[in-house]
This record gives sequence, structure tokens and C-alpha cells, in this order.
Amino acid sequence: MKSSDRIIKTDVLVIGAGLAGCSAAYAAAQQGLSVILITSENEFTESSSFYAQGGIIYKASDDSEASFVEDFQRTGVGIVNEDAVRQVYRCGTEFIDEILGKKLCVPFNRSEDNSLNLIREGSHSKARIAFVKDHTGQSIQEVFYQKIKDVDNINIITEATSVDLITLAHHSLNPLHIYEPSTCVGAYVLFQKENRVYPVLAKQTILATGGLGSLYLHTSNPSHVRGDGYAMAYRAGARIMNMEYVQFHPTTLFSTNEERFLISEALRGEGAVLRNKSGEDFMKRYHEMGSLAPRDVVSRSINAEMNETGRQYVYLDITQRNGEWIKQRFPKIYQKCLEVRVDITSEGIPVVPAAHYECGGVATDMKANTTIRCLKAVGEVACTGLHGANRLASSSLLECLVFGTIAGRDAAEQIRTRKVIMPGVADWKQETEPIDPDLIRQDRSTIRQTMWNYVGIIRTKKKLERAFGILWQLNEDIQKFYAHSELSDDLIGLRNAVTTSLLVLHAAKLNKESRGCHYRTD
Ligand code: SIN
Repeated sequence: MKSSDRIIKTDVLVIGAGLAGCSAAYAAAQQGLSVILITSENEFTESSSFYAQGGIIYKASDDSEASFVEDFQRTGVGIVNEDAVRQVYRCGTEFIDEILGKKLCVPFNRSEDNSLNLIREGSHSKARIAFVKDHTGQSIQEVFYQKIKDVDNINIITEATSVDLITLAHHSLNPLHIYEPSTCVGAYVLFQKENRVYPVLAKQTILATGGLGSLYLHTSNPSHVRGDGYAMAYRAGARIMNMEYVQFHPTTLFSTNEERFLISEALRGEGAVLRNKSGEDFMKRYHEMGSLAPRDVVSRSINAEMNETGRQYVYLDITQRNGEWIKQRFPKIYQKCLEVRVDITSEGIPVVPAAHYECGGVATDMKANTTIRCLKAVGEVACTGLHGANRLASSSLLECLVFGTIAGRDAAEQIRTRKVIMPGVADWKQETEPIDPDLIRQDRSTIRQTMWNYVGIIRTKKKLERAFGILWQLNEDIQKFYAHSELSDDLIGLRNAVTTSLLVLHAAKLNKESRGCHYRTD
């Protein structure tokens, strides 16, 4: 095999540009490392983090580690990794103050004495969520981009899609490397504008590819969030866990098409109440915390209520608050709803649950190390165990910031102290057969319909078996044409989507016990 004609080399390759990726890249660069940060999107800021409206967990004035652990554990239904909770508790406020506050100057809502305004959200026992109106993620991502685009040792590359992780065992031209422990040394990357794949070799690779919402027909996530990282890590041989725990956000704006715009949990944090068509505050019948119950409970209750009343949605009602205050506090949600002729200051918002967040993922330790050497995973693609079987509101941005920063710092430590192998690797074999876009469109649609209808909020053995029949066959077909078709971002995404769907499905089939987001009626 001939060695590649163009190899790009760096200390750290970060795949994904959400808050986890930015935090990791920034932390690694501050340690003096050269960093390449790639995103498959043409807009750097396009990521799930950008769409996180609600906020980021800070600390209430009377907070404690024990209270954090209790809230996470109750919400995650007993299988939360307490080490992960303790880590976000211990590092969280410091990183928010230092990085988001002092270095990035994120414009958090503050009181006159400059202290952060904090609200309570679902399943929290205290008001501890910091926020920027109803666009916290967007504000953080925008300032983060402004910061890191001028950092000399961070090379940002947009429209670059990672195809496969490079490992010593799979790709090294040195046959003796098969005897090394399983080790990642970068990734093959499709540079979309050139339409060429080149290896990017890195001493440390950090997966920050986000989640998998768009494997479902209805999701709060952007369309490119299609499970890429899980599939790549799986093919490389990493341990993947807890994939059955897909969280459905209870409140997204109902529409007659597929689109689902997030209606932040912060509305309920500020007093909004879920009502059925008779105007009843129905959540009181389902849970003692009412509309502020954990998300899995609220989503299932809405589902039950819709079935009972024969309606396609329930209402989220914030009209008890002052109209001007609502417009100031939730400007984007107010505007978006107005576009579909819903004035949230005077009427209930029609809402339905939609796929939102994968609580499981690539298994990592507390320094974001996966089971493959020199491969870290951070943010939604990772599973630190922080979320257990169901995620606590506004914990995702905090997890991204804390574990991203720790990953970047630890990457530097590992490069300093461990043996690094940079192997020769083969050229990517470029296939040329054109692909019919109808095939990709239909296969994506099959995946999304199947996952929504059979691997959704309520699961049964029969539904899961039906899904398995469909997706297994589809996987065979996709792998066949993937092998000789011209590579594109869409084709890479489709191959990853079917693999990741099967990972969720497989975990759901194996786990017979209902817990948190994995709910089986049989
Ligand atoms: C929201 O604002 O409800 C979404 C943020 C989150 O998932 O924590």
C-alpha cells in the first residue's frame, strides 16, 4: 500500500464545533498545543449548543454537592455516575466565572448588584440556572467563536466531514502496530470543497460531534445531528453505553410538518403550566412536581393526555405573566410563535414532545478518555454517566464546558508524558460511482420514520423487533452502495445514521427494564 500523498499533522484534532469542541480546542491551545478544529457545517456556530435556549446550571446560594447529587440521581433514576456529578459541581462555577464570564464576557442576565440571575427548571430542587434571555447557547457560541478564531494555534476548518477514525490496528502501514494497544491517531476527513479525503494525523483526537436527534422524524436538533460520532467510535472499537436512553423534550412547537422548534423548559421555570384542551393543569395528576417534573415523566404524560383527548398537542400556558415581561424574557420564542400566529402573551402554545438528547454514548472516564488510547469524547457524544437514564435540565452546556476544558488540558498532559506513535497511513481509496440522491433521501426518511414510530417514547418488544427487521436490512443495503459510491457529506451521514440507529435499537431490545427515557409497556 502506498502512503498518503497529503497528510495533515497536528497535536490535537477536535471533531465538532459545539461548546464541548470549542472548550476542548481552547483549553488545548492554551497549553501551547497546535489544534485543528473541524466542523462539517459551513457556518462555524451551527451546532446543538447553539440551539440550547434555556441555560447552564450554576449554583444556588444555598447549594451543596449533596443537593446536586440528589437532583441528578433522582432525575437519572438511580443510575447516574456520582463521580461525574461531583466533577461538574466542583469545576462548574469556576469554569463559568473564569471562561464564560471573565474571558468570553458572555452577556448573562444579571441583577443590579451584578450577580447572575438564576431560575429553577424541571426536576431541580433549587433555582440554579444561569441564562441569556432565551438564547443562552447562541450567545455562548457566538462569543466563543470570536475568541478562538483569532487564536494562532487553532486552525478552524469548516465543511470538513470526518469519515472514519484512524487507528493503529486498522490503518497503520506498519504491520507490527497490530500488537499495540488500541490507539487512535486522527481521522480521515472529507474536505467538501475539494471533494477529497485526506488523513489528519493527531497525537490526541477529541470527538465532540454532538448527538443523534435527527435520526427521529421529529427533533429539536438541527438536521446534521445524525449520530456521526457514535458510529465512528463504534467502528473503531470503542465501548458505547446507555444508548437506549434517548431523551424527548416535552415541549416543542407543534406544526403540521416535521419541523419542531424548541420551546424552552425555562418557560416552565418561570411559571408556565401545561394544560389539556379543557384548560386543566393535568401534570398535577401525574407527578408531585407538576409541570416541573423530570422530562421523561412530562413527555410520557403529554403522550398519554394526547391519546386520551384525541388531540395532536397540549398547551403550554405562560399568560399569567405580564406581556411586556414575556417579550423581554423570551424574545425569540415570542417571535417564532407569532410567525405561526400564536401570541404567547395571551394564549397557550401548542406543544408536543420531540427527540432532544442522547443520555448514553461513547463511554469515558472523568478525563474524557474513551476505551481507545488517545481518543477522547466530550459533550453529548460522550457518556460520562452524568445523565444516567434521563438528563436534568440545563446540564448539557455545563457538561460541555467542564469536560471539554478538562479534555483539552489532559490532552496536553498526555502528549507531554506518554509515548506517541505517528504511523504512515494509506491514501483514502476514492470511489467514483455517482449516487442517486433519491436513495439517500428515502433511506433517511425510512430511518426517521422507523425510529420515531418504533423506538420512540413508548416501546414494546413487537415495535422493537419490527424496527430491527427494517433497519438491519437497510444497513445491509447502505453498506453495499457505500462501498463503491462517490463520497459526500450526505452519504457519510446516512451510513452513520443507520449504524447509530442500530446501536440505540440494540440497547433498547436488550434492556427489558423501564427506567427514565427507556420506557417499555411490555
Ligand atoms: C431547554 O431550554 O429546554 C433546552 C435546554 C436543555 O436541554 O437543557
